[in-house]
Amino acid sequence: RKQDDIYTIGFVQAMTTDNWRKEMNRAMQVEASMHPGFNLVIKDAQNDVARQIKQIEEFISEDVDILIVSPIQSVPITPVVEKAMNAGIPTIVIDRKIDGSNYTAYVGANNVEIGKNAANYIVSNSDQNQELKLVEITGLQTSSPAFERSQGFQEVLANHENINIVATIAGDWEKTSVGNHLGSILDSVESIDYIFAHNDRMAMGAWEMARSKNLEDSIQIIGVDGLFGPSGGIQLVKEGILTATVLYPTGGAEAIKLAIQLLEGDQIAKNNLLNTVVIDKLNVDIMQNQFNKMNQQQNDIEQQQTVIKEQVITYNSQSNLLKIMAGL
Ligand code: FRU
Repeated sequence: RKQDDIYTIGFVQAMTTDNWRKEMNRAMQVEASMHPGFNLVIKDAQNDVARQIKQIEEFISEDVDILIVSPIQSVPITPVVEKAMNAGIPTIVIDRKIDGSNYTAYVGANNVEIGKNAANYIVSNSDQNQELKLVEITGLQTSSPAFERSQGFQEVLANHENINIVATIAGDWEKTSVGNHLGSILDSVESIDYIFAHNDRMAMGAWEMARSKNLEDSIQIIGVDGLFGPSGGIQLVKEGILTATVLYPTGGAEAIKLAIQLLEGDQIAKNNLLNTVVIDKLNVDIMQNQFNKMNQQQNDIEQQQTVIKEQVITYNSQSNLLKIMAGL
């Protein structure tokens, strides 16, 4: 244990504009709040690589006890993570990877498997003699999940001659990167069967474009993330907007658990893979129930934390009062 008995966990989040990352932060905060000896500090790089590098450097010079990083892009974030490692700060990489293996541990789902799951879903829902036309919409190509999801997707489809990827759109994870490009593909290629978008936000963008051309009922759209909540993937599957989504858990709680284990001197695995599953109309209700329960529990925990904090404040002011009364 350190002298002041408090460890600092510094987390540099890629951005916090989307709900998936908000959920990752929340899961981290809930987990950290259950361990009083550990203080979590989150910095938001706002999707700006230079800012992310600077924030990691700040944590290095503050000599945090452990660093967690979700890199915006792989290559440009690699040297500064190495710098942290060389400074003796253990570094956990979450969701997106850096280049090479100079980090302490990785936590996230297997993105190659996610791409394979999406492709296998299409394969198993169509018959061999049927010619299928697909469009793939990728995430930001310089971030590892985009590369890996494509790799898995294409690997499976390479064995199926009846299924053709007629176009690949280079998206950037955001809905706005889908629109016009997909629009012109829908205008020029007839009867597209499936669109696989690397996340649910872009999948939603694809649906909106298909809808504007009255094609939303003939094209099946598959996304990734499967977030719960109002505009999350689970809801989109329930509403029939998406045919399916592949769950991509944020790993927020797991990353904090790993950080704490490491700081307590336990051995941790280098590669910590989270489970993924395809969510479609057959299992969406079960998934939604599970998430509702989990969410309820998290809310309860947060509620309890607030009550405890209030009690501590009351206790402190009462004992101060007692000290004053006792003339101490
Ligand atoms: C969130 C996000 C997710 C996606 C992940 C990939 O910012 O775009 O939608 O699955 O990042 O790193």
